[in-house]
Amino acid sequence: MVVEIKKDIFWVGVIDWEIRNFHGYITPNGSTYNSYLIKDKENVLIDTAKDYMLNELINGISNIINPKDIDYLIVNHVEKDHSGCVDKIVEISGATVITNEKGKESLSYHYDTKGWDFIVVDSGDEISIGNRTLKFIKTPMLHWPDNMVTYCKEEKILFSNDAFGQHIASSERFDYEIGDEVFEYAKEYFANILMPYKMLIPNAINSLKDLEIELICPSHGIIWKEKINEIIKRYLDWSSDKVENKAVIAYDTMYSSTKKMAYAIADGLMEKEVEVKIYRISETPLNVIMREILDAKYVLIGSPTLNQNLYPEVAKFLSYMEGLKPTNKIGVAFGSYGWMEMATEKIKEVFKRLNFEIVDDECLKVKFVPKEEDLKKCYEFGLRLGNI
Ligand SMILES: Cc1cc2nc3c(=O)[nH]c(=O)nc-3n(C[C@H](O)[C@H](O)[C@H](O)COP(=O)(O)O)c2cc1C
Repeated sequence: MVVEIKKDIFWVGVIDWEIRNFHGYITPNGSTYNSYLIKDKENVLIDTAKDYMLNELINGISNIINPKDIDYLIVNHVEKDHSGCVDKIVEISGATVITNEKGKESLSYHYDTKGWDFIVVDSGDEISIGNRTLKFIKTPMLHWPDNMVTYCKEEKILFSNDAFGQHIASSERFDYEIGDEVFEYAKEYFANILMPYKMLIPNAINSLKDLEIELICPSHGIIWKEKINEIIKRYLDWSSDKVENKAVIAYDTMYSSTKKMAYAIADGLMEKEVEVKIYRISETPLNVIMREILDAKYVLIGSPTLNQNLYPEVAKFLSYMEGLKPTNKIGVAFGSYGWMEMATEKIKEVFKRLNFEIVDDECLKVKFVPKEEDLKKCYEFGLRLGNI
């Protein structure tokens, strides 16, 4: 399938309907690797796909031009979901690779690039491809050092690579063809890919402010056309420290004691009209929990003590969460234990490193199975927490 998104500009991407685990990011609805072809005096391919999608990519391009006739291959980002076919495209076409200094260096660690022709661009550089001009803007650490975006001036298209992406496999290509659930996919993508670098996003968006943009073409998911202002606004919100009156309770348990505590605290919070989301960590994709933590005011993590340590699923989640660096949270650690409680201290160590405001209470550690009065204390704690 190819889609002409503007005269002589084509989506030639591939739909990965079956991918379910994208470097640990669980993708129940698959994803796409969006590649774009501009037919002009010089034919330009913008980004590629995972290597196992080469045939589909080549078939798509072949509907428009002979792949041998690609003149320029723009590498906006070297991660292999977009650069996986770069070597084969260069081999087939002899195309000149356009990327920035970091992109060129990173490509050399992925491929034997000796003999490749490169044009190394910097922010603000422009290249004429015939009737059109392409401008490059580096967006370092959004989300790798090599990231950049490409802007087509005459067509007012921003090829944004991972920025504004979403993991959805769909036959639709544009935002107006699917409902507002697209923002949930974009939010999950933001929380799990861009959140650690969110402080860089307002400046990056500012660097685009003088560009007229009619289409944002990301490298995953649908193309933004009618919801451009809304997705930019949401990116700015997600980059800020704004939180909703929402609590995410993520826990795990061996014999349900920690679960009982989680539900009792949740009852208190709900009584105070705090929106509550409860997740058993081992039963939930970590990326879903992080999507909800992104704009939550409260993060409550529960773990039983197991062999003087955290329950392993909770440890795994804490490690993942710490890497994504959520900010401006109130953190609560709770859990059941048998004889020497260790889990909540370990949870609080992570909270401290993330600068969470820790709220503690003696009711948050329960010896073995919580009794009625223990759960009442947890409930009352939830009430107090909901007032903060
Ligand atoms: C294999 C195993 C190891 C445990 N190790 C500890 C421990 O090191 N320290 C402790 O205080 N309790 C330990 N416990 C007791 C549990 O923390 C206790 O049973 C707790 O109530 C379990 O909570 P849960 O039902 O939420 O899983 C252990 C339990 C099991 C099954």
